[in-house]
Amino acid sequence: MQQPISRLQGLIEGHISKHNYGERPIELYEPISYLMALGGKRLRPLLTLIGYYMFKEHPSKILDQALAVEVFHNFTLMHDDIMDEAPLRRGQVTVHEKWNSNTAILSGDVMLVKAYDLLLATDKKYLLKTLKLFNTCAAEVCEGQQMDMVFENRKTVTEHEYLEMIRLKTAVLLGTSLRLGALLAGADKANQQALYKFGVNIGIGFQLKDDLLDVYADKEKFGKQVGGDIIANKKTFLLIKAKELATGRMEQQLQSWLELKDFNGEEKVKGVTEIYNSLGIKQLAEVKMNEYFESAHSSLRKLDAPMQRKSMLKEFAESLIGRES
Ligand code: IPE
Ligand code: IPE
Ligand code: MG
Ligand code: MG
Ligand code: MG
Repeated sequence: MQQPISRLQGLIEGHISKHNYGERPIELYEPISYLMALGGKRLRPLLTLIGYYMFKEHPSKILDQALAVEVFHNFTLMHDDIMDEAPLRRGQVTVHEKWNSNTAILSGDVMLVKAYDLLLATDKKYLLKTLKLFNTCAAEVCEGQQMDMVFENRKTVTEHEYLEMIRLKTAVLLGTSLRLGALLAGADKANQQALYKFGVNIGIGFQLKDDLLDVYADKEKFGKQVGGDIIANKKTFLLIKAKELATGRMEQQLQSWLELKDFNGEEKVKGVTEIYNSLGIKQLAEVKMNEYFESAHSSLRKLDAPMQRKSMLKEFAESLIGRES
């Protein structure tokens, strides 16, 4: 049977809604159910199922592994929101604000364990490889997150350093989600690598879009605090380019926003956004993002899978470019 993306999404939602993470103490498990039930785009488990379906029928056989990837992602979000002091996630209060940081740390920790537990559903034939893939990716996500934190307090970060940081904190998980599906479907290494590369390229494009939305999204649709990256001096592509291009009075203004310790958040977001607008930064970021989506397309050429199935990947990538949250 042909598997349209919406059917795979239905399978994932059904599996997530049935899953029980644990009962007691309620204070440990309730935040997990809360965050998982808030939804989100469920991109990563979808990639795992699509990765499998490139080579084999019945992606429903690997729903536990797909869920593992989504639980891992939600664990990173729970901790990321503490680190970024974020008030909102998916349109609702973040876990550390609704409960407290200690709760978000511990519930996040146990989510990581539960993600590995879900991977134990894997056939013995693939289990070691699955764990190795997952371990490499999980460590890289932490490396990227640490770089993100370090960069907040660094005066200058190059575009190259930024791209490496987002490759690690975001893109490798998209690549790994796809590769995991391919591995479990018995795909050979070359095909696994082509899918991984596709995933990493769309992942970099995806994070560039996330950085753009952080400044330019519609507050109602975004579900996160607009301007959070500006408030925290995050070294996004937008800020790096603005620092590169601003001269004279504008350069001084930008610098003083970055150095100011005591400020009104709204005013800072407005001030820095105006500088971005004057410099045409949004357009530059869009060009960069499109470059990565185009590179992703060229890795598809190396993928030995039916055309019709490959087109699911194209459809998926296109939906990311135009997204509003
Ligand atoms: C948010 O990921 C974290 C980033 C890597 C930008 P998503 O934008 O996929 O978040 P949800 O799961 O859809 O909420
Ligand atoms: C998130 O980057 C990357 C990870 C969660 C590992 P961001 O900090 O930009 O993600 P959002 O914008 O909070 O979702
Ligand atoms: Mg972050
Ligand atoms: Mg964040
Ligand atoms: Mg962000």
